[in-house]
Amino acid sequence: MTNPAPHDPTRHPETPGFETRAIHAGQEPDSRTGAVAPAIYATSTYKQDGVGGLREGYEYSRTANPTRTALEECLAALELGSRGFAFASGMAAEDTLLRTICNPGDHVVIPNDAYGGTFRLFDKVLQRWGLEYSVAPVADVDAVRTAVQPGRTKVVWVETPTNPLLGIADIAALAGVAHEAGALLVVDNTFASPYLQQPMGLGADVVVHSTTKYCGGHSDVVGGALVVDDHALAEEIAFHQNSVGAVAGPFDAWLVLRGLKTLGVRMDRHCDNAERIVEFLQSRSDVTEVVYPGLESHPGQAVAAKQMKRYGGMVSFRHRDGEQAAVDVCNAARIFTLGESLGGVESLIEHPGRMTHASAAGSPLEVPADLVRLSVGIETVDDLLADLAQALDQAGR
Ligand SMILES: Cc1ncc(COP(=O)(O)O)c(C=O)c1O
Repeated sequence: MTNPAPHDPTRHPETPGFETRAIHAGQEPDSRTGAVAPAIYATSTYKQDGVGGLREGYEYSRTANPTRTALEECLAALELGSRGFAFASGMAAEDTLLRTICNPGDHVVIPNDAYGGTFRLFDKVLQRWGLEYSVAPVADVDAVRTAVQPGRTKVVWVETPTNPLLGIADIAALAGVAHEAGALLVVDNTFASPYLQQPMGLGADVVVHSTTKYCGGHSDVVGGALVVDDHALAEEIAFHQNSVGAVAGPFDAWLVLRGLKTLGVRMDRHCDNAERIVEFLQSRSDVTEVVYPGLESHPGQAVAAKQMKRYGGMVSFRHRDGEQAAVDVCNAARIFTLGESLGGVESLIEHPGRMTHASAAGSPLEVPADLVRLSVGIETVDDLLADLAQALDQAGR
């Protein structure tokens, strides 16, 4: 399931390759000592050379910190943008972005399948602040066009692949729809990671990440990021990042930066293992549907093939025997750890309806009760297959 021509839409011959950027962008060896690994600048403030005499612009660590700068430069290089911004969490990045772009009374279009916390931010926090939203199936470009209110809609928000149903949005087509209406296209690229998909090259205005996931990659940090290309928008985000203050601390920024160095090799192994697991799940009579964008049966396969290098490490499936059986599989797994989150080296299993997406219950974003979501890690794949087999067998007893 590897696409014959790896997708790197704006790759110029003079641009270093992805892994080179991941390892070097923003991370020159230290000019004083030659230290190869970036330093963790655990400092809140900086000595000034006379009043207003800042060294390299550093004044106070909410505004800027060299470890965070290194991460922000690396993220921008990976996502083919001009500026990156690192936050304390994915939600902090989303909140800061929306309060940068939107005003009370504005309107946004949000996906009918999205991370439950993103829906909660729109529904329970920003709606109260006066931001209205319409929900649209983002795999359907015409439906998004219908939901957009020209002049009033400021943002078309998509996740692709979506969490947890792995729906695929056509980034290039939706960029056209958003821009026709004077809105920005924001793409949450958490599930794909910048290795598999680079939305800016397809016309997106802003890329969002929960760096907690594949970017960090080791389940040891919570973080978020924004990447943009437009200079004026970058300046406004920088202003809000500093004003709101939900920034990544230097230790967390360092962990994400270290994770990014191995993102490419990790993603390839995540994809290899996911493909084997998809094959296995398809052979089980107790699984009624396997959801993976690399499958011919997936309605978004053609679009995914156009915009993704491979199809990622997330796999969802539906259990023939309903909600309790799906819950039982989650409880019976041993190597797949029962837990929220995704994108780490270790495999995780969860029941979205009762866990990550409980906040979407009763809304248009509610997920099927018989759904199980896997974040396929990079352990030995035969062990993962054996674990799933025993968990499914136990649930069937
Ligand atoms: C697709 C997606 N976007 C955003 C978030 C929020 O990120 P964080 O948990 O780092 O705040 C998550 C968290 O699971 C997510 O899955």
